[in-house]
Amino acid sequence: MTEADRVPAGINPNVPSVARMYDYYLGGRDNFAADREAAEKMIEIGRKMGNEARQIALANRGFLGRAVRMLAEAGVRQFIDIGAGLPTQDNVHQVAQRHGPGSRVVYVDNDPIVLTHARALLARDPDVLAMEGDLKDPDAILDDPRVAEHLDLSQPYAILLVAVLHFIPDNGEAAHVVARIRERLRPGGYLVLSHLYAGNATVDETIAGQSVYKSTTSGGLASRGYDEIAAYFDGLHPLGPGVVPVSDWTPDASPDGSYDFVKSGILAGVGRIRG
Ligand SMILES: C[S@@+](CC[C@H](N)C(=O)[O-])C[C@H]1O[C@@H](n2cnc3c(N)ncnc32)[C@H](O)[C@@H]1O
Repeated sequence: MTEADRVPAGINPNVPSVARMYDYYLGGRDNFAADREAAEKMIEIGRKMGNEARQIALANRGFLGRAVRMLAEAGVRQFIDIGAGLPTQDNVHQVAQRHGPGSRVVYVDNDPIVLTHARALLARDPDVLAMEGDLKDPDAILDDPRVAEHLDLSQPYAILLVAVLHFIPDNGEAAHVVARIRERLRPGGYLVLSHLYAGNATVDETIAGQSVYKSTTSGGLASRGYDEIAAYFDGLHPLGPGVVPVSDWTPDASPDGSYDFVKSGILAGVGRIRG
């Protein structure tokens, strides 16, 4: 089967998809030539900055696994993963169900190819729902009747925004989306979030990265500073060390640890609704 044979109907393989680029960073095979070319450009830009895009993507997956495990061990049984990405190893439902039997997961993504793969993989798991949705409209996701059918929204749930918010380039819109999500979380609910970190990138490096993502399905990308990322947790009780480099986030890491923010590439945190 050639690569062209693998292109699902309705997908333009010549437009790089942020989901398939991430799959490429992670060493997956669900990507096409245009995705690999764009991803290689990002890998090169990262390398010049002393960052390794592949390691950062793997570190981000590691954080996702640790955070879901901690929440499942704490008794959380409902997860809404927005910007879920292509299925890979140790997907959210697998980690959640391993550490919290009976966990139910809703995967949401705005990339149709993610939905095709997710539905094929998950077809036999009644505890998992995969649906199309846009992070820019969190109410449309949370008010979708399929979500209310799949989860008990009167009980606490965790919302996962892992390596997705930076695809909303407008700062005000990104802040508004997360504020709305915090409002929609129930007492006992959690926000799990990781985000591309601006670090000490020069203006030229930032522009180079942005120009690669401008021509992708997301249409843009914004790395952000510590204060902006930490503000996404406003009003939440931080779990673990607070907002730290993604590879350093563990439930028992200290907030006072010495973290190398500059090299981290992505910052991450977990917050719980107070009360
Ligand atoms: C870098 S991947 C992250 C996948 C997974 N959350 C992880 O961290 O391993 C980003 C995912 O977010 C999706 N995405 C980007 N913008 C989105 C939006 N506005 N609404 C929903 N999903 C979006 C992409 O299609 C892609 O699958």
